[in-house]
Amino acid sequence: MSDTPTHWHQLPHAPPVGTLLGRLDALADGSATLQALPAPQAGTEPPFRYLLLRSGSEVKAYVNRCAHFGVPLAARQDLLIFVPHTSITCNVHYARYRWSDGACAGGECDGVGLLPIPVVVDAQGRICIAPSP
Ligand code: FES
Repeated sequence: MSDTPTHWHQLPHAPPVGTLLGRLDALADGSATLQALPAPQAGTEPPFRYLLLRSGSEVKAYVNRCAHFGVPLAARQDLLIFVPHTSITCNVHYARYRWSDGACAGGECDGVGLLPIPVVVDAQGRICIAPSP
């Protein structure tokens, strides 16, 4: 396993609470999408990469960082492997994570999972980072 941080906000360039991560109307039901926010020094530093998963009106956000080697689950949207509402799979060595909470569901992630980012969807459909529960 990689040296895995335990919370999303420990990662470099983690955005602050309240940051807009996306819009509900831009996500199809059952979709899992690759997203990124540019680093403050864009061009010299990597972006903050995350995933948005939609089930009905519920949205889950996870850091796009596999617990195995600490790399993105996929480099491009068309390479992202997922079963809608069920699981999302790293395309490097196929660690599989539960849709609902990011926990390891099989493969090279035993005992560790994706890092969840708490989010809130407001009345206008904006998906923003919520304070940690
Ligand atoms: S890097 Fe994701 S399963 Fe190995």
